[in-house]
Amino acid sequence: MPVKTLRQELRDAILSRIAKKQDPLEGFYCDEMTRESILAVLVAGRHLLLEGPPGIGKTTVAKIIAALLPPMETVADCRYNCLPAKPACPDCVGKKKIRKITVPGAQRFIRIQGSPEMMPEDLMGDLDPVLAMKLGIQDPRAYTPGKIQKAHRKIVFIDELNRVPQRTQNTLVQVLEEGITTIAGFDLDSEVDTLVVATENPEDYAGAERVSETLSDRFEQIRIGYPAFEQEVEILERYGRRIEGVKASDAVLRQSVAITNAARMLPDELDRLPSVRASLSIFEQAQSLARLKNAKQVTAAHVEAAARRVLEGRLAVSSESRYSEKQDALVEKIIDAARKF
Ligand SMILES: Nc1ncnc2c1ncn2[C@@H]1O[C@H](COP(=O)(O)OP(=O)(O)OP(=O)(O)O)[C@@H](O)[C@H]1O
Ligand SMILES: [Mg+2]
Ligand SMILES: [Zn+2]
Repeated sequence: MPVKTLRQELRDAILSRIAKKQDPLEGFYCDEMTRESILAVLVAGRHLLLEGPPGIGKTTVAKIIAALLPPMETVADCRYNCLPAKPACPDCVGKKKIRKITVPGAQRFIRIQGSPEMMPEDLMGDLDPVLAMKLGIQDPRAYTPGKIQKAHRKIVFIDELNRVPQRTQNTLVQVLEEGITTIAGFDLDSEVDTLVVATENPEDYAGAERVSETLSDRFEQIRIGYPAFEQEVEILERYGRRIEGVKASDAVLRQSVAITNAARMLPDELDRLPSVRASLSIFEQAQSLARLKNAKQVTAAHVEAAARRVLEGRLAVSSESRYSEKQDALVEKIIDAARKF
């Protein structure tokens, strides 16, 4: 049987779930349009660039996508994820015996955190000076694979691609286009069968570059926004930590979400809006406060006290706002507005 590429595996996984009327992105909350766009990109086998503010589920969806993949068989101690039937990398060549291992779908995921210090070698690997001395610089075994080679047959998740220097971004182009990396100085092409899910925060702060045009042309861009109110309540219910010994009712979930949603209605006053992560934090800290006061039940006052702390640390009041010197007053206005939700 011919071996399926990662894209074929992903497409089959998505389509078989759709055929069974299951949601392939179960656990990620967004509107129908966004869901359909993401699935269409993946079924077409294209690379995905998710754009949106922090804390709205971009990493979550990337992990859910990777977990769709079936388990893969590969070779033990092979950093290039060779097929057991065709071991061809520097790690496998010369091995007398190949030991097969199975990697679960959820682990077919390599994460790269974009940063201004990221060098092409971080992605593409480099010569190991010690091994090069020992084996000679022409020996492929002296080469340490980078994240990209390790991503063979896995999904690569690049967080904050826009913070990666353009020179490093450009080294990705060949991989995205041809699925091959040329290992510099060696007569060795390494196959990289991967699909990239990257994120970009378009309203990003200082230090960010843009994703270069050559690179962004190779991605399908999808904008992700804040989830709807009811969805955000479900996110808190599903992912919010519960603290033992104290009860948090449905009203507590809703009030936590109402407060961040009230803040998001003031984009003119705020340079940075509170994310879903902020709602989660309010929900969890409201429970801690109640617990510290030995209360059996989280009350509205606990939620508001937690919200004051969480918002104080996260809101960036715009310098043009009437509240620019009065953050406390703005926080009270937000909490008050949430009471009327
Ligand atoms: N749309 C969503 N669907 C499901 N969970 C979400 C969603 N948005 C946020 N969350 C929850 O909020 C937390 C933060 O989400 P996540 O880390 O995926 O955000 P992110 O967009 O990757 O943030 P950042 O840009 O800071 O990396 C997680 O616990 C996640 O479960
Ligand atoms: Mg993230
Ligand atoms: Zn190998």
